[in-house]
Amino acid sequence: MVKEMTNSRGLCRLSTLAMADGHGEDSPYFDGWKAYDLNPYDPLQNPSGIIQMGLAENQVGTDLLEEWLEKHPELSWKDAPTSFKYIALHQDYHGLADFRKALASFMVEVRGGRVEIDPDGIVLTAGATAANEILTFCIVNPGEALLVPTPYYPGFDRDLRWRTGVEIIPVECHSNNNFQITVPALRKAYQGALKNKKTIKALLITNPSNPLGLTISPETLHEILDFANEKSIHVISDEVYAGTVFSSPPFTSILEIMQSAKNYNPQTIHVVYSLSKDLGLPGFRVGAIYSSNSGIIKASRRMSSFTLVSSQTQFFLTCLLSDCRFTREYLLKLRERLKKRHGEFVKGLRAIGIDCLEGNSGLFCWVNLRKLLRSDSWEGEMDLWRVILEEIGLNVSPGCSFHCEELGWFRVCFGNMSEEDMDVALGRIRVFMCSGDLSEASLGRSCLARVLEAKQPEVARLT
Ligand SMILES: Cc1ncc(COP(=O)(O)O)c(C=O)c1O
Repeated sequence: MVKEMTNSRGLCRLSTLAMADGHGEDSPYFDGWKAYDLNPYDPLQNPSGIIQMGLAENQVGTDLLEEWLEKHPELSWKDAPTSFKYIALHQDYHGLADFRKALASFMVEVRGGRVEIDPDGIVLTAGATAANEILTFCIVNPGEALLVPTPYYPGFDRDLRWRTGVEIIPVECHSNNNFQITVPALRKAYQGALKNKKTIKALLITNPSNPLGLTISPETLHEILDFANEKSIHVISDEVYAGTVFSSPPFTSILEIMQSAKNYNPQTIHVVYSLSKDLGLPGFRVGAIYSSNSGIIKASRRMSSFTLVSSQTQFFLTCLLSDCRFTREYLLKLRERLKKRHGEFVKGLRAIGIDCLEGNSGLFCWVNLRKLLRSDSWEGEMDLWRVILEEIGLNVSPGCSFHCEELGWFRVCFGNMSEEDMDVALGRIRVFMCSGDLSEASLGRSCLARVLEAKQPEVARLT
């Protein structure tokens, strides 16, 4: 609905696009964040507050970055190896050459050293958010569409559709094969779009997947590229979680498949990356488009004028990423810690009868709570989400916000908190589950009281 503002002289209209609902903010995914902001959990100041498990943020390796910083006081301006003026004055939209070089090396390292990345094919953007929008803008006309497998990251509704006027056609994936993308599912979505007279220009995949916490197999990547070849459409691979793969099967980038086979057209395959997840730096706003399509690189560079990365940030990160010994050790430790964290979380859930997908990556679990739904309906899913938020005090994200086709799935993040807080969260779920009675009455305030009684670490800790 378009909102209008009036002033003393009459109607003062705002832009239709800005006021329309295309942002997608009207969703439990964002509502949960707002609820958390009003009552954030703190073990000492607010122990009955809401624990934020709806934010895919990586705090698991923050101390490693802090340690590195302490060892590099030369990064203060006074003794910087490069002059203040060099950083402070005008930068064009190519970004600092040294930074693109360092980022390219890091992207290769994250992909197991099995890909080649030319720094000149990198376009810097303010995070993957901007990278996804820019690529969509460059490939798809307003009114045309791209295919996106479900469940997908809720931010795509904003990033791919809002300002571009592009439509997302969901590719429906199901739990019977762990929500993996199949050729029949791609064909079904494609044919359905054609029937509705939609022109499909691209397929966007997320590998590793948010919210599944799963990588896409090399076989499936081949099938995806074959399908895209057949239909003459572009493939965008969002690989922002590439460095979080903590157990087998290992991560395979679409670049690896493309570079190892001669039958794919590199002009139609593009990667989105950012340092928000792997390095846990979402506040720095550093993202990248990687492509070998010169038209896309040229247009993306022009577009990136709106979303440049501060040269101070580029300078800082050039120093960090050029320390290859550090980045290697950081990635090893990050994966080790994520594996441990994920293992403990899944074990804790299973001990109380909650099942989840067997993930190998990411900062979250895709949890199946269907048996807790009071009714087998989307209302039932939303009811359970509200109970988890308001009564158990956990902000998790319901499957409907990821456009999941099946009821009862929830994404639960574990990477944005301390181990102690994760244990408190598990303790709250355990108390809720152990009440044994999921009737209306047991979902009232009394449940919260039981949960709070159990907040002491010795009670909350699950072994
Ligand atoms: C799959 C995916 N792509 C893009 C983004 C946005 O990342 P950034 O913070 O780099 O803009 C996210 C953030 O959660 C994400 O999960």
